[in-house]
Amino acid sequence: MRIAMIGSGYVGLVSGACFAQFGHDVVCVDKEEGKIAGLRKGEMPIYEPGLDRMVIDNVRAGRLAFATDLKGAVGNADAVFIAVGTPTRRGDGHADLSYVYAAAAEIADAIRQYTVIVTKSTVPVGTGREVARIIRETQPAAEFDVCSNPEFLREGAAIEDFMRPDRVVIGVETQRARDVMAGVYRPLNLIQTPMVFTNIETAEVTKYAGNAFLATKITFINEIADLCEKVGADVQEVARGIGLDNRIGAKFLHAGPGFGGSCFPKDVRALIKTAQDYDVPMRILEAVEGVNDTRKRAMARKVSAAFAGVLRGKTVAILGLTFKPNTDDMREAPSIPLIMALQDMGAKVRVHDPQGMQQAKQVLSDVTYCDGPYDCVEEADAAVIVTEWEQFRALDFDRLKELMACPVIVDLRNIYRPEDMKQQGFAYTCVGRSSAFQPVAVYVPSGQSTAVAPRG
Ligand SMILES: NC(=O)c1ccc[n+]([C@@H]2O[C@H](COP(=O)([O-])OP(=O)(O)OC[C@H]3O[C@@H](n4cnc5c(N)ncnc54)[C@H](O)[C@@H]3O)[C@@H](O)[C@H]2O)c1
Repeated sequence: MRIAMIGSGYVGLVSGACFAQFGHDVVCVDKEEGKIAGLRKGEMPIYEPGLDRMVIDNVRAGRLAFATDLKGAVGNADAVFIAVGTPTRRGDGHADLSYVYAAAAEIADAIRQYTVIVTKSTVPVGTGREVARIIRETQPAAEFDVCSNPEFLREGAAIEDFMRPDRVVIGVETQRARDVMAGVYRPLNLIQTPMVFTNIETAEVTKYAGNAFLATKITFINEIADLCEKVGADVQEVARGIGLDNRIGAKFLHAGPGFGGSCFPKDVRALIKTAQDYDVPMRILEAVEGVNDTRKRAMARKVSAAFAGVLRGKTVAILGLTFKPNTDDMREAPSIPLIMALQDMGAKVRVHDPQGMQQAKQVLSDVTYCDGPYDCVEEADAAVIVTEWEQFRALDFDRLKELMACPVIVDLRNIYRPEDMKQQGFAYTCVGRSSAFQPVAVYVPSGQSTAVAPRG
């Protein structure tokens, strides 16, 4: 099959490369000339494990090409996927659909034969119909169907998720479009991937409902974590205890600094707004959004608690900036409001992230970028683990203690065990299981902070 992918960002590029891997002929289109020029040279615009290899192999095999010219790519295609961004619209929180609609108008101009136009971007219910209207209006003679095929891949595991998805959701209205889509995903029949064929509205709602549910699960366990801290319970064990119940499931029950990233925050926001337009207030999601927003900044208080609430003049080392490991994506990362809050409290901030430093430079100011975790903690009064990169899971504690001005660790991902950290001589605090530890250092007005042995 011939596929045109409009938008070669995270989703477009991964989807395009994976469709080529399935054996289809794919052209990935993007407006950004620099991105396309880089891709043609084998340079990836994002960090995603395994992506470079897959792109290079499929380009060599002649199945994958890159273009800035949408017309050429769309003219021959059996299916055209719209994979452009749908960020939060400035001012009102709705999804900004201007890129989707602009792409639809361009596609309409370029169609030369029967084509299935597929929205892969996450779009509010009703967008598929609007795309169809735009195409009909722009080119009344165009022979086409629209389809909704939302994407569920996770950054950091995107290739695996695309090649072995839990399910594929396809909203279509005609048998002809259904046949084309069945052909696009035929290779997944071999691994018996469930295909959910439904109508367009259902497919659109399914994507938002999925993300909103996962965001709710995270927020729920975060609030349970707060309670655990107050009452001497351990949220990790609570999560295990409830997660073993098949009705609940163990995933997305990791307490932490709040959800971020390119999808959950904006999709929760957009679903709330859509529902309001239909006079169906989503009170649970409104609470999820509010709780999550305040949480990220509130994490700074965990750091200041180590110094009796006073961070002025202290140096804080931030380990991990991206919203999750194995990506360089900084969109709505919890590290951003956390760092701003620390700076507001008067702290100097040093940062390190294995992949996200370039992206971080566009959103953070007044921070010192460091080459590695040990460089980052040098002379720091506290180190905060914000992203659970593999590199931070087995830090050399003796080296840390030697380098740090004060052996204080705030572990927002619960990657270490409080007992071990105590034994290593760290003043340590984490999320939802800090009952064993009280404020971890005393502030001495001379400006020196003294770590005290944590009280167990
Ligand atoms: N990132 C994820 O993990 C993820 C997962 C599932 C779904 N989604 C959804 O997929 C969509 C795309 O997300 P993303 O993270 O890949 O976005 P992105 O910002 O990384 O990429 C979008 C790309 O589209 C290009 N573009 C915009 N208008 C264009 C046009 N008219 N012609 C050609 N190119 C155009 C931009 O230059 C950009 O490179 C969003 O709706 C998002 O919600 C994202």
